[in-house]
Amino acid sequence: MSEQLFKVTIDNITIEVPAGTTILNAARKIGGDVTPPAMCYYSKLEGSGGKCRTCLVEVSKGSEKDPRPMPKLVASCRTTVMDGMEVKSATSPKVLDARAGVVEMLLINHPLDCPICDQAGECHLQDLSYEHGKNGTRYEFQRRTFHKVDLGDKIQLHMTRCILCYRCVFTADQLTETREHGVLDRGDHAQIATFIQKNLQNDFIGNVIDVCPVGALTDKTFRFKNRVWFTKPVDAHRNCSNPKCCGEVQLWMRGDEVFRVTARKDEWGEVKEASNGKTGWICNECRFDKKHTNDWVIEGPSHVNRHSVISQGHYEHLEKPQEFLPELMHRQPRLLMDIHSASEVNKPDIELSEIKGPAHSTDFNK
Ligand code: SF4
Ligand code: FES
Repeated sequence: MSEQLFKVTIDNITIEVPAGTTILNAARKIGGDVTPPAMCYYSKLEGSGGKCRTCLVEVSKGSEKDPRPMPKLVASCRTTVMDGMEVKSATSPKVLDARAGVVEMLLINHPLDCPICDQAGECHLQDLSYEHGKNGTRYEFQRRTFHKVDLGDKIQLHMTRCILCYRCVFTADQLTETREHGVLDRGDHAQIATFIQKNLQNDFIGNVIDVCPVGALTDKTFRFKNRVWFTKPVDAHRNCSNPKCCGEVQLWMRGDEVFRVTARKDEWGEVKEASNGKTGWICNECRFDKKHTNDWVIEGPSHVNRHSVISQGHYEHLEKPQEFLPELMHRQPRLLMDIHSASEVNKPDIELSEIKGPAHSTDFNK
């Protein structure tokens, strides 16, 4: 039996999608400004979506059979299309106003600490506030604070930055054997925590760092060592023995030092399907323990969206002049340029990528 297709019009662009597709996924098929932002939905995680309300859209015509508009804005990540449905996303003043309201709400408690946050430059909330936020805040009260919860030696939790999207909880539930963390307490006190101070140790738990849309969960092995836009993302792979790990990653390098290893992301900021057909999740060993270029087969510079701050100084189609040194020297020369001779950021005897734990001011040149 052939698949039933529904016609849906989003911001005056009509497409056909299979019945059961959500408005958000239909909009992603069109792409561009039509696509609503999404802070909690994650297509690779079952049950995600419906928490943050950033993806609100206006349904101006319900369907061909029942053309009445929907009375309220709806969450596009949780609402499926109907045949003949008409949706307004970027063209609706009501939607734009609601998005600005959601940004204001999310920023009530989220600290404005981008200058010291490791997620800056790749933070979805930073992008969302840039695109949909308003100048200033009307909030006059003290922001929420939390007692520190230690999640172990690999993952840093900054609860004040959490927007309670639940993605990390779904990731731990669906990817690892056991889950040690979750959302504890209710309402304004709700927080990501472990019950009686446990460490997050499962072999796929590092993926919570990649799914976190903000800087609430960051990589302790990368913390404070570099701004992400000073590093160069490179696609690489290895033959990982873990059958669940796709082994395809991005190395974030400066010179020949590997500062961080992450999964590869698609244009929506979600882990990308790997070339071997697996979902792009990677294991902790690939993420935290393989920090040398000779652990990996390097494929070349990753594609970076040109609107991203990471694209500054990142050249994907660099044409290298022909190498003549091996021919002249009759051998392969060793690395000629030490990064410290070109950059004076840190002391020459300190390899930032090798430091255990975060880098401190004493590791950098004043
Ligand atoms: S820690 Fe990050 S991924 Fe987890 S709920 Fe908070 S914002 Fe979402
Ligand atoms: S992405 Fe739809 S509610 Fe969060």
